[in-house]
Amino acid sequence: MPATCVVGLQWGDEAKGKIVDLIGDQFDHVVRFNGGANAGHTVVVNGKTFKLSLLPTGVIRPNVLSVIGNGVVVYPPRFMEEVESLRAGGVDVSRSLVLSDHAHVIFPYHMEEERLAESGGSGKIGTTGRGIGPCYQDKVGRRFGIRVGELLHPNHLRDRLNAIVPVKNRILKAFAGDAETPKTMDASRIADEYHVYAEQLRPYVTDTTRLLHEAVAAGKRVLFEAAQGSLLDIDHGTYPFVTSSNSLPCGIWSGTGVPGKHLQRTIGVVKAYTTRVGQGPFPTELDNETGERIRRIGREYGTVTGRPRRVGWFDAVAVKYTAALAGADEITVMLLDVLSGLPELKLCTAYDLDGQRTQHFPSDSFQLERCIPHLETIPGWSEDITGVRKLSGLPTGARRYIDRIAELVGLKVSVVSVGPDREQSILD
Ligand code: GDP
Ligand code: IMO
Ligand code: MG
Repeated sequence: MPATCVVGLQWGDEAKGKIVDLIGDQFDHVVRFNGGANAGHTVVVNGKTFKLSLLPTGVIRPNVLSVIGNGVVVYPPRFMEEVESLRAGGVDVSRSLVLSDHAHVIFPYHMEEERLAESGGSGKIGTTGRGIGPCYQDKVGRRFGIRVGELLHPNHLRDRLNAIVPVKNRILKAFAGDAETPKTMDASRIADEYHVYAEQLRPYVTDTTRLLHEAVAAGKRVLFEAAQGSLLDIDHGTYPFVTSSNSLPCGIWSGTGVPGKHLQRTIGVVKAYTTRVGQGPFPTELDNETGERIRRIGREYGTVTGRPRRVGWFDAVAVKYTAALAGADEITVMLLDVLSGLPELKLCTAYDLDGQRTQHFPSDSFQLERCIPHLETIPGWSEDITGVRKLSGLPTGARRYIDRIAELVGLKVSVVSVGPDREQSILD
């Protein structure tokens, strides 16, 4: 049975969570393959709000098995917090959530390393502060990485931490320089603490690679849920202002062990405009009243950090680039309702770079920084569209806007979203 992937085609927060939830009942398994608790997905079902960060959005659908693959980085207290908060909201995941024994574990020294690195002025990326980058660094560095499976062996874990933590303390000191005092890490305390977490995680831990291979062989319907956005991909995004994993579908193979040949449908999710959190170039950014208005109406504040999201016009140059990288078959256009009431809208159709017009997206930040967006103006609409459920019910301006996005990106639009609730979706 072929698999499907839902992937954000901008800088994250495209409302991927809503799409995963919307189509979630068509799948047996929903799988996270990258990132960790840097993701923040808000899903609204019949007025009830769920906020997910580390756990797959599939957890709120009954009958779905949610899988955290080996490519994810896991902070155990966060995992348990989310499990508990779901339980408090009436969702029991004790039989419907599994965690890869090969996923890497985030430790307090990762958070501290990130805090120190981000507190300096230059070189700041504007990360979510969840220890994601330092944990992935240890994974690829191989000397200090610890995987979930290792947590389950207390003596082994203690030995590893006894070897790692003194080096980490020296690294933290070097990172801090003269200006800051780093927190000193205590190997024995961390081992005790993580021993408790290990017992909490134990019932969820399994060989998810084998589980997914068996699922695919048995014809189960599998949905891969990408975290972050394609422009934050470590290889193809706006480096260095990216996250530390492959957020494009190319991360599925390495992050779950499921070969790419099983992926048959890729749904690219875009906002009807663009947002970005953290540092880095953003050619269509609106640093004005229109941007403020979109931020206010779209409630554009980060789910994880509460930071105001930077806001700009829809960038078709960027989305064409990411749609090609993702192999998107279709796009879903989200938060269209937020644009109601603007007299005119703009779409970026090309860049001017050093006096030359181009439709190619330069993913090198130093080049993208210099790109001036070439904007096309489209008349807006004034009607409230949050109650519309059919394309034919949208005002002409809104339909033209969607059609133009489809034309510029070169893909059909399969869903238009006009509000946060699962019901506020146009599927025809
Ligand atoms: P994700 O990280 O891609 O899952 O997206 P987030 O959940 O971080 O951000 C999307 C936000 O937009 C959430 O607060 C959603 O509840 C909200 N949302 C989703 N679709 C719509 C929509 O069509 N209209 C409006 N107004 N809000 C939406
Ligand atoms: P979802 O899944 C938006 C951004 C951070 C920062 C950069 C690196 O909700 O779309 P990191 O903590 O990953 O090292 O930060 O990536 N970032 C996101 N921006 N949505 C996300 O996830 C993000 N995850 C990371 O703001 O600029
Ligand atoms: Mg988000």
